[in-house]
Amino acid sequence: MIQNAIDILKTSKILFVLTGAGISAESGIPTFRGVDGLWKNYSVTDLATPEAFAKNPALVWEWYQWRQEIISRAKPNAAHTVLVEIEKKFDKFLLLTQNVDNLHQRAGSKNVLELHGNIFRSRCNTCGMVYETITKTEAKAANVPTCTCGSFLRPDVVWFGEPIPQDIWQESLSFLSKADCAIICGTSGVVWPAAAIPQIAKTTGTKIIEVNLEQTPMTPIVDVSLLGKASEILTEIVSHLR
Ligand code: APR
Repeated sequence: MIQNAIDILKTSKILFVLTGAGISAESGIPTFRGVDGLWKNYSVTDLATPEAFAKNPALVWEWYQWRQEIISRAKPNAAHTVLVEIEKKFDKFLLLTQNVDNLHQRAGSKNVLELHGNIFRSRCNTCGMVYETITKTEAKAANVPTCTCGSFLRPDVVWFGEPIPQDIWQESLSFLSKADCAIICGTSGVVWPAAAIPQIAKTTGTKIIEVNLEQTPMTPIVDVSLLGKASEILTEIVSHLR
């Protein structure tokens, strides 16, 4: 099966990659679904919706600060690093990630778009001003950090029930329509709109290679399904690319 993926990639010039929490699992960052997934132990409605923030911003910040700390300690793993190498091997490359952990950028990937925001940024809940960094102590001192306008800051991530950034989505779709191949790695394929990417790719004849520990709802329509750890599979793939 891996040979099929290598054959597709060898004849591809334009590569699109979609990643999800699974690619950061080997860095020690919990995924959302599955046996030890965050949503098994924490409530989406209490922590990751605009309503949750309106009701209890301090609780929401406490959870995001806990995740920021885990993510700050984590390092990019081999899967992130190999994607940096893969980027250099194609004429055009776009990495769309649902992850908010910044690990692709830290690994050195260049052309990265974040569909669900970034956990290290915050933005004003009222005026929308974006803060590139907010230190943990700043946030902790006041419990809920505030903007210069006086309103609460919120994590600059996309919560359930919120629209994704349209400019990023449109740019991704435009790239995908020209891509020869799409690698979909470490995502359960249940959260929209990213879950629609295999269907969309099909309409333009883009070949799809899925990399995941297990089968997902996307598996029946992909061209090649590679079951296993992202780090191992991507490392094997890149060793066969010139
Ligand atoms: N290698 C490859 N795949 C892996 C690995 C690994 N080492 N570890 C886990 N996986 C796979 C799991 O099998 C699962 O299919 O990664 C996937 C992770 O799925 P989710 O936890 O649902 O993560 P994701 O698809 O990124 O979730 C989408 O949901 O809660 C929201 O906003 C959050 O961006 C997130 C979105």
